[in-house]
Amino acid sequence: MIERQLLIAGNWKMHKTQGEARVLTREILRGLSYGLRAEVMVAPPYTALAAVAAELKGSTITLGAQDAFWEQQGAYTGAISPVMLADAGCHYVIVGHSERRQHFGDSNRDVNRKLLAVLDAGLTPILCIGETIEERQAEKTLLVVAEQLKEGLAQLPAGSRERVVIAYEPVWAIGTGLTATPSQAQEVQAFIRSLLRELIDQAAESTRILYGGSVTPDNAASLLSQPDIDGALVGGASLKSDSFLKIITAAG
Ligand code: 13P
Repeated sequence: MIERQLLIAGNWKMHKTQGEARVLTREILRGLSYGLRAEVMVAPPYTALAAVAAELKGSTITLGAQDAFWEQQGAYTGAISPVMLADAGCHYVIVGHSERRQHFGDSNRDVNRKLLAVLDAGLTPILCIGETIEERQAEKTLLVVAEQLKEGLAQLPAGSRERVVIAYEPVWAIGTGLTATPSQAQEVQAFIRSLLRELIDQAAESTRILYGGSVTPDNAASLLSQPDIDGALVGGASLKSDSFLKIITAAG
């Protein structure tokens, strides 16, 4: 069986000034224990990327961005390209987060274009997928997730298959304190891996599938013990060093 290194990723969303971001990064670095097996990533807002990159220099924590536009440059006022994010020191870019889909109208097609552009710039996309509460209640979870996954990964170049990370984030669990139970998350994530086997063949075995949605120090260990949960995408609990460090410790 392929060993997948757990990834604990902090999505800071629209939080933290540069100064606050520096302080939080230093606290995380200071609290990190030696011999850590999990990979740790933080995704600050664009304005704090340079400050956090400077703090992370020489450390094992990787840097991510929360979104990117699909063009690499041009007359796109307000947009940030994957090439710029690579230049800023990013390794990961989150695409398709439900907050982008909900507030900024990102469609599956848009998400796909972003994902391909991120890969093109040599970066690793974290593709977020997940159902709303209405979709879950209508028993459409697997249908919605399958559509988001297939359309998000459309036209994926064969050489990039190994580089994609998936994050299953049920929309009803984001920022609500309602977490999917470990078995609910495992059920969907096992389904995602089975679909990945069809879409990207053997690369599905090494693809990391993260869980996101109200991950806390209290529920992290039980979620991460599931066979198809290969890490966590953490929102609220990543904004304070003590809770984020506890989640990292739970990952072993
Ligand atoms: P919360 O951990 O605050 O629920 O946010 C999850 C999330 O959206 C991470 O991308």
